[in-house]
Amino acid sequence: MSTDISRYTITAALPYANGPVHIGHLAGCYLPSDIYARYLRKNEKELIFVCGTDEHGAAINMKAKSEGAQPREIVDRYHEVIRGSLEDIGISFDIFSRTSKEVHHKTAQDFFKKLYDKGSLEEKVTKQYFDEEAAQFIADRFIVGECPNCHFNEAYGDQCENCGTSLSPTDLIEPKSRLSGAAPVLKETKHWFLPLDHLSGKIKDYIQAHENWRPNVYGQCMSWLDAGDGLQARSMTRDLDWGIPVPVEGADGKVLYVWFDAPIGYISATKELKGEAWTDWWTKEDTKLVHFIGKDNIVFHCIIFPAMLMEHGGFHLADEVPANEFLNLEGRKISTSRNWAVWLHEYLEDFPDQQDVLRYVLTATAPESKDNDFTWSDFQTRNNSELVAILGNFVNRVVVLMQKYYGGALPKPNELSPADESVLAEVAEAPANIADSIEKYRFREALSRMMNIARLGNKYLADEEPWKLIKTDPQRTETVMYVAAQVCAQLAQMMEPFMPFSAAKLQASLGMNKLSWSECQNKELIGPGSQISADGHLFSKIEDAMIERQMEKLKTPSESVNYSPLKDEIQFEDFEKLDLRVGTIVKAEKVKKADKLLHLEVDLGFETRSIVSGIAAFFDTEELAGQRVSVVVNLAPRKLRGVVSQGMILMAEDSEGKLKFTAAPEDMPNGAVIR
Ligand code: 2FM
Ligand code: ZN
Repeated sequence: MSTDISRYTITAALPYANGPVHIGHLAGCYLPSDIYARYLRKNEKELIFVCGTDEHGAAINMKAKSEGAQPREIVDRYHEVIRGSLEDIGISFDIFSRTSKEVHHKTAQDFFKKLYDKGSLEEKVTKQYFDEEAAQFIADRFIVGECPNCHFNEAYGDQCENCGTSLSPTDLIEPKSRLSGAAPVLKETKHWFLPLDHLSGKIKDYIQAHENWRPNVYGQCMSWLDAGDGLQARSMTRDLDWGIPVPVEGADGKVLYVWFDAPIGYISATKELKGEAWTDWWTKEDTKLVHFIGKDNIVFHCIIFPAMLMEHGGFHLADEVPANEFLNLEGRKISTSRNWAVWLHEYLEDFPDQQDVLRYVLTATAPESKDNDFTWSDFQTRNNSELVAILGNFVNRVVVLMQKYYGGALPKPNELSPADESVLAEVAEAPANIADSIEKYRFREALSRMMNIARLGNKYLADEEPWKLIKTDPQRTETVMYVAAQVCAQLAQMMEPFMPFSAAKLQASLGMNKLSWSECQNKELIGPGSQISADGHLFSKIEDAMIERQMEKLKTPSESVNYSPLKDEIQFEDFEKLDLRVGTIVKAEKVKKADKLLHLEVDLGFETRSIVSGIAAFFDTEELAGQRVSVVVNLAPRKLRGVVSQGMILMAEDSEGKLKFTAAPEDMPNGAVIR
């Protein structure tokens, strides 16, 4: 049974707000979803394109810990970085929200409560790894140990990245907590599980009704469903101090599992955008729901989230999940921790006004059916030999000749030759061909069909040679230039979903508006008399030096840690000479005429000391009162810029010279000895 579609709900995976996005994310889901959304808008469809940052879960906690920051600071920072860079590359979300918003907390809690009240959740006490030093339960991902399968030493508690086996933390040999490095202990804890076995028939029917899904998506779902041990109940809650509180009694200190709340984020964002009308976009059968994701999210979007929605009741399930495979970088897996990545915000800084080049290259090499490789040399070649030499060259020739011969005013055609007719027909058919590819989520193919319009234009000009014809047959030249202008106009329209910045430029230089997809199927897109400006320069050559710089950047990752060399060994007696104490800064002010120095008053319990410290570049004086510090108190007094300093504050310094206070325990009094 097929229903006419009245509206489209398009989602792109919510990126974790624990770091910036890179080209792998862009190629994986943001570009394809944007192309699709722009295509639908041009088709005058009703749609919403929703996304936002995923701000909960262990990944955020871990990042906060590694920076000695609060999770709130991390998510605020990266929400802005991610939002800004996706906007700057032209991803046209209707809303880019955050899962830390009130509306989302309430939506996710209400959803959980509904399942709880219906009796859909099973309360179970299980044993989980607990880090006694960090005094907390540890997420699977944050336990490392030896893989029982391949004996790789750094396997995670949920998966071995070396051999790909999916694991439970208790499978690991000699597990260690990544929080403290300590061996974790098993401890009992209560959680709420969503049983899946009773849904397995329904889920299987649902997946099997979508045999047309990409083979990688369909295959992964079926192998999950057919796995020997059936569908296991999944815990929907976690022991964490950052997240959405579990809204039932007896759940203190527990939060919703991030994969429970995150997909509900699509719904909350819709509520934010549409208010009461959100239900149209999530419950009606004439809505088409499309999730754009990367392959690591398949099971969650095709099985777990639909199971949650089925159990809740009243929801429309995803119609399409065009998940992409992974994009590698220069033959290696992209790794954020090793900084083996091309960061979107850095690309935008290094290649300002070349957003479309990256959009083009990532679409042309999109990992739609298998993993694919991004290389800087391919990036350069595609820019120079495709965008500049084929597309840019064609457009440029048309606008320049148009100026030269007609002062930019498009001439009327005279009698059309069979070649003209055939070019015009092919150009008018292009939208249908491109649409066919886009509707099958074959964006690479769609892009190459768009580029074929430029190839056709170049061939037409080469065959007709208007630059020669102008001398012998001005009448025929008018017709040729008219036909060439139609090709150019079609390009200006068809580039739009893929390369919106250049499309807008070209449309402006042709004096055209955006046309709807159906209007683009006319043989005449731009009428005689239209004024064409010579400002048709769309793409510029990328020189070797630019590419070499990018390769250099990859080799010297900015976030790699350069450990400073170890100092010579000392004796215990040497260490014993230091008198280290806990203190609290009570006052801080700048030292006159010394940019780097702050004059601090530090309460050491037994007295308050004046200490001059070279930390002015890193802290505001206002934020320092109350800061707990570790102090060397028996250093001989020194005078710095006329101020006596009676001690030294201990600081941690990274390889780039960034300073942070070393931790001084909150519950130790000032003056407590550190040893
Ligand atoms: O894998 C990820 O980056 C997740 N943050 C994706 C979440 S998608 C959705 F469910 F919100
Ligand atoms: Zn392994």
